[in-house]
Amino acid sequence: MTQDELKTLVGQAALQYVTPGSIVGVGTGSTVDKFIDALAASGMAIAGAVSSSVRSTERMRALGIRILEAAEVESLPVYIDGADEIDRQGHMVKGGGAALTREKIVADLAARFVCIADESKLVDVLGAFPLPVEVIPMAAAQIARRFHAIGGQATLRANCVTDNGCHILDVRGVQIRDPQAFERDVNQWPGVVTVGVFARNKAGVCLLGTSSGVRTLE
Ligand code: A5P
Repeated sequence: MTQDELKTLVGQAALQYVTPGSIVGVGTGSTVDKFIDALAASGMAIAGAVSSSVRSTERMRALGIRILEAAEVESLPVYIDGADEIDRQGHMVKGGGAALTREKIVADLAARFVCIADESKLVDVLGAFPLPVEVIPMAAAQIARRFHAIGGQATLRANCVTDNGCHILDVRGVQIRDPQAFERDVNQWPGVVTVGVFARNKAGVCLLGTSSGVRTLE
């Protein structure tokens, strides 16, 4: 199976976590696009979706899915999103599509994070994928120096302004052995908007697309 077919497989599999009539939290990325398409094609009536990006909002609106603002809901039963890396405990690196801040906000509203990914995303230790960090533009250089001090090389993502008007640093060379501590520490650096480690908002379920079908990690 191609990577695209694996994404389609898990996008469809995620439908089992959506309750008719509910409001669904929806992430961003090529795998989530498959989920959005599957949701629209299923004909399941939902009350609406809270979206994590302009990209997903536009796709859902085009398919007739009602969009609600995060401020309009107090909680969500489920949030469905992809990942750039996920470990066996459900900790993730996210933000390859630059939507990490809104993803974390919507994920935080949800009782359950369902991660959908092809099997190439499963890792033992997070950090091989360059870690996205959304930053206030004036702080980018000093945050890059802080990463350098802990052995990382941070580069400013070219031609990238996030939905929040901020910039993204991609950090290579850090092995994230304690995701909770790493997320907590980096989030406190002045100018960091969001670090792309999802430990506090980790996945409760991961649907991994493999050549032999969907593997569920819980
Ligand atoms: C978006 O900012 C990311 O967090 C995506 O969820 C992540 O990059 C996975 O994207 P793909 O499904 O396109 O691999």
